[in-house]
Order: sequence, then structure tokens, then C-alpha cells
Amino acid sequence: MNDKYKPLFDSFTFKNGINLKNRLVMAPMTNFSSNEDGTVTDAEVDYYVRRSKGVSMVITACTYVTRNGKGFHGEFGADTDEMIPSLKKLATAIKAEGAKAVLQIFHGGRECPPELVPNGDIVSASDVQSERNSAKAPRALTEEEVQHIIAAFGETTRRAIDAGFDGVEIHGANGYLIQQFFSSHSNRRDDQWGGSLEKRKAFPLAVVDEVKKVAAKHAKEPFIVGYRFSPEEPEEPGITMADTLQLIDALAEKNLDYLHVSLNDFWSKPRRGVDDDRSRMEIIHERVGGKVPVIGVGSLYSADDVIKAFETGVPLLALGRELIIDPDWVEKVETGRENEIETKIDTGAQARLVVPDPLWQAIINTPGWFPGIQ
Ligand SMILES: Cc1cc2nc3c(=O)[nH]c(=O)nc-3n(C[C@H](O)[C@H](O)[C@H](O)COP(=O)(O)O)c2cc1C
Repeated sequence: MNDKYKPLFDSFTFKNGINLKNRLVMAPMTNFSSNEDGTVTDAEVDYYVRRSKGVSMVITACTYVTRNGKGFHGEFGADTDEMIPSLKKLATAIKAEGAKAVLQIFHGGRECPPELVPNGDIVSASDVQSERNSAKAPRALTEEEVQHIIAAFGETTRRAIDAGFDGVEIHGANGYLIQQFFSSHSNRRDDQWGGSLEKRKAFPLAVVDEVKKVAAKHAKEPFIVGYRFSPEEPEEPGITMADTLQLIDALAEKNLDYLHVSLNDFWSKPRRGVDDDRSRMEIIHERVGGKVPVIGVGSLYSADDVIKAFETGVPLLALGRELIIDPDWVEKVETGRENEIETKIDTGAQARLVVPDPLWQAIINTPGWFPGIQ
């Protein structure tokens, strides 16, 4: 291995004692390939197996915690105990390759396509329509329903434990339900769940508390609980960097195992909310101040891209598209073959890359999403 990249292969120990063999993790990526009934498919499991050898931890695609939170065609479910064998199949396959397996737990809120949720009944913090898709306007959740969804995040955590996962990642990013409660765009409530920044934090923090409580009660071994968030929203009103710094302060007190900053570009700069010319990642990392490990992500295609990001002090880095394009990314760096890393998708290589059909179709039919697809 080239000496320059050696620090990426130092092991890392979470506060809970769980050890990662290196600093590279697989980013959560939806693959649209599960069965209609919410169980995982063999094609999906094969796709994970192909990518679980080099990285130290695999964060799965998001899984819905309640039936009305299903956000994607071919998303797998974790909303009932009947799903435990399916979850177990996935966790077992990932762990057999040597990576820790972390289940990303999710509710799509107002971003769910109506045809995927019972009776097309789309719910969110408030009845404000998303500007991101053409889905119909949501209905505001009642107090009872809010409590039910918080409990469902806990129930899903219990199922993750029973299925053998090493942890869960709470999906508080990318505009989905947890973020919808934090956002002044989607949350116009005037009860305990909205009305001020303080109250908009209440739902994300209640989910964290519930998940931590269930993990403490059910897990017999150390169990990872991470939280993923998006630092800003383009909408006006919407989440600003200033809002996010407040959320980080609260999350950093929750004894989480990590915070994961969802970005498409690791080096992107704040849109608004702070007078600071540095990247969002650097500002966030400084604010967290070592209280909890941070995972960075976003367009880190080459080994040099990754080491440069690592040198900011962020201890863990996630690779998403990079591992679809080149499942051997980590092994190539480990064996001094970083020059052989593929950084553009080979559009003729679906079988070689072990990518299920629905994901492959999405990739090749979405211009600009993956390098190599115009
Ligand atoms: C196919 C695909 C599916 C994704 N699905 C999820 C998801 O389920 N949950 C999530 O938090 N982020 C999801 N993301 C975002 C990635 O985790 C990551 O933040 C983004 O791709 C940027 O990192 P990269 O440049 O390493 O790909 C997805 C990205 C892609 C490309």
C-alpha cells in the first residue's frame, strides 16, 4: 500500500467499544430492488456481498418503519416482525464479508409516492406540499400518530437487533419525515412539535431518545446508533446552516455513536445562515468539537480525494456511488493499485459490477447522476 493512504486503514473504536477495521464505510443507497411485500431479494443481497469486503461498515439503504413511510418502489420494510427473517438475511450476508452492518431507518413523510402508502394518505409535520416532487399535499400528523411513529422507530430498532445488525442509522436527512419536522418549510405546527426552532428539534430528538432507549433495553452486545442529517435546504423558508448548528449542539449531547453529514460534495460551502467561507463539513466538524465522531461523504472518487477529506480531521468517510462504480475501491487502495480505481460507470458492466436491474435502470436513465452518464 502507498504510505500516503495508510491512515485510512487505521482501525477505529467507537465509544461503545465496537471496532472498525478501517475508516471507510459504505454510504446508504436505495436500490429499488426489494420484493413488493418488503422482503429483500437475492439480487439485492448479492449487490451488498460484492461491496462488503473492503469497507469496515455498511450502512444499508433506508427501510421504512411504518407502512405509510414507504418512500421508494422496491424499498425493503422493517415495519413488522414478519420482516425479521428478511432483515436477518441482509445482516448475515454483510457481516459474513467482514463489515459491520448498520440498518438505515426511515419514514418518507410528504415525499412518499401516494401509490406506495395505504389509501394514498400522505402524512407530514404539516400540510405543506413539497417543492421537490409532484406528489400531493400531505396531511398533518395528529399527536397520537406522531407518538406512534416515534415508537415505530424504536420497534424497528428492536427488529434490527433481533436480525443481527450491529447498529441503526436514523435517517434525519434528504428531506424525509425527520427532517420535515426540523424544517421551517414543512413544519408549521403550533404544538409541542413546532412553532420555534427549539420545538422543531423535538421530533428528531424524541426519535433519538426512543431508539437509544430500545437499544439499551434489547441489545445484549454494544450496538451502534448513528444519526444522518442534511445541513441545509434550498427552499425559503427552510433549514439554514445556523439552524443546523443548533441541531448539532443538541445531537452532540445524546451520546450517539456518530453523526453522518449527508452531502453530494464533501467540500460544498454554506448557502446561507453563517458568515463563513469554509466548507459545511469543516464548520460542522469544528462545532461538534470531538464530542461525537463525524462521517463525511460526497464525490470522493479517487484515493487522493479521500485522503484530502480525511486530513480535515473527519475520522470516517463514506463512499456511495464510488462503490457502485468500483466495488473493489477499498481493496485497490489497500494493495497499492489506486491507479486502477474506476471513477466513471462502465455502462456495459452491470453483471460484472453486480448491480440489480432496478438500480441499474435508474442509474443509466438519470443523466448527470453518475459520472459517465450524460
Ligand atoms: C443510488 C443512490 C441511492 C441513495 N439512497 C440513499 C438512502 O437510502 N439514504 C441516504 O441517506 N442517502 C442516500 N443516498 C445518498 C448517498 O448516501 C450519498 O450521500 C451521496 O450519493 C453522495 O455520496 P457519493 O458521492 O459517495 O455517492 C443515495 C445516493 C445514491 C447515488
